[in-house]
Amino acid sequence: MNELKVAAMSARENAYAPYSKFLVGAAILTPSGAVFSGCNVENVAYPQGTCAEAGAIAAMIAAGEREIAAAYVIAGSPTPVPPCGGCRQKLAEFAGADVPITMATTGGTEQTMRMDELLPGAFTADHMEPRS
Ligand code: THU
Repeated sequence: MNELKVAAMSARENAYAPYSKFLVGAAILTPSGAVFSGCNVENVAYPQGTCAEAGAIAAMIAAGEREIAAAYVIAGSPTPVPPCGGCRQKLAEFAGADVPITMATTGGTEQTMRMDELLPGAFTADHMEPRS
């Protein structure tokens, strides 16, 4: 857990968030023990910005891994930062129902929830079967 926290905090320091000034860092642990991190990258065309979780997931996929064993997200928020709705769906693509997602503040407060608690009733590939 500490390795994930350090990776997420370090990525957060590189966040590009000149518009919201809200820096977010995320880190993912895979079953192989590898850790991938990401930060939010905003854009002057606001909807083009990307979340920290999306960056960490992209790094994991680019390295050839496909499974999330644990994730950690940190921001300078008053309460542990909850992944946005879109990021919950992105995490659920690679994280099983029981995977722990830890949300944290830079002040040291942490809250851990299971993937299926963060996104109950997730849309999955099973919902597309049978195709017709
Ligand atoms: N943000 C993240 O990177 N992850 C989250 O889980 C919540 C929100 C970013 C997006 C945007 O750059 C800034 O935080 C404010 O919404």
